[in-house]
Amino acid sequence: MTTEATESGDGLKELGEHYRSLVDGELVGWDAMRPFRKCLGVGGQGVVYLSERRGVDGFTIPVALKIFSPDRFTSPPEYSAEMARLATVASRVARIQQDHLVDVQNVVSVDGIHVLEMEWIDGYDLRRLLTPDAYGRVREQVTERRWQTINQVVMTEGRQQPRLRPGTAASVIRECLSALSAMHRHGIVHNDIKPSNVMLKRSGNVKIIDIGAAFELENRPPVQPCTPIYAAPEVLEGQPGTPASDLASVGYLLIEMLSGEQPFSGMSFAEMLKSKRSVFDWLPGALPVEEFALTEPLLRLLHGLVDPNPIQRFPSAEEAELDSGGVAEFQRELVQAGVTSEYEAEIRHWIDEVEAEFELRDPSDEVTRDFLPPTRVFNPPSE
Ligand SMILES: Nc1ncnc2c1ncn2[C@@H]1O[C@H](COP(=O)(O)OP(=O)(O)OP(=O)(O)O)[C@@H](O)[C@H]1O
Ligand SMILES: [Mg+2]
Repeated sequence: MTTEATESGDGLKELGEHYRSLVDGELVGWDAMRPFRKCLGVGGQGVVYLSERRGVDGFTIPVALKIFSPDRFTSPPEYSAEMARLATVASRVARIQQDHLVDVQNVVSVDGIHVLEMEWIDGYDLRRLLTPDAYGRVREQVTERRWQTINQVVMTEGRQQPRLRPGTAASVIRECLSALSAMHRHGIVHNDIKPSNVMLKRSGNVKIIDIGAAFELENRPPVQPCTPIYAAPEVLEGQPGTPASDLASVGYLLIEMLSGEQPFSGMSFAEMLKSKRSVFDWLPGALPVEEFALTEPLLRLLHGLVDPNPIQRFPSAEEAELDSGGVAEFQRELVQAGVTSEYEAEIRHWIDEVEAEFELRDPSDEVTRDFLPPTRVFNPPSE
């Protein structure tokens, strides 16, 4: 045998020993580093970065990291207690595995700061997409014919911001409800449904994100933060969030998507509460006259979501999705009325168009960069 063959035989023997000691052991471990590639968002709770999980031989997979700021807390123990609570919720959410709910992967602590690792969602949140800017930019990008289809099927001009056509809005809401019903079945209230926490993926599907305000029904936090304009009236009055209050938030989101206007923006707390309590008085007038043919089924659906009395809402997210008067029934009525499209495919094309328009622009155009950072671009790895 040559020396080379002996060496490679020895090397293989050594590798085999490593293998056996590894598989005979009780655990395996390695170091983890997460380079920040891009800031995906800054919110009330901290910063979200696009990062990568790296393996060997060039393997990488994008992940999102939410880094929780201690700024809004009064002491380190208060921050730690809230983070510990959140880790428990995250651990429970991580087991849910629902297609329309963000996939939570880990919670770690780095120098006392908590970091939540989750799947990176390749898409945009509704707060960014429902802007006059996003709507107007697509027009520059598409043919007149496609522009007409977008306006007939996906979105068109609304009062203050673009409004989604009923079929598209229903498709978004249905996926939100299916994510919420999975959370509720696991005893978790999301507690912060709003446009910035609903993402449209490039695939055309919806993902609910941001479990930062979520809690377990059997382990309610002492203080429950809420976003007042999307919170149910009973929550504004200081009652704890419930699955029913999540439904009300979905309803306000639906009203906003359908009308192209945030119905409570600019209102004082008292005005907002009053308006939510008397929602049935103004709701018919908030729906666009152009959708007159669908007003009745839309109102029926909305009533079950935003009734000021939580007992009168749909008994659950699942029923809001599937039962009489729910979104699925509304979708069937659309079909009967001859208003039907492949909504997910339409949303997918439209997101591509929004982004293509962005990518054609001069990268030095700061306003454009702020508006929609390209989600697919990665810096080359620095290592
Ligand atoms: N997993 C993800 N993949 C892609 N983008 C994400 C992800 N998570 C969050 N983002 C982006 O970052 C933004 C802020 O994230 P998040 O909502 O979790 O933070 P927050 O501090 O709770 O914000 P807010 O207080 O506004 O609710 C989101 O609106 C979204 O645009
Ligand atoms: Mg958020």
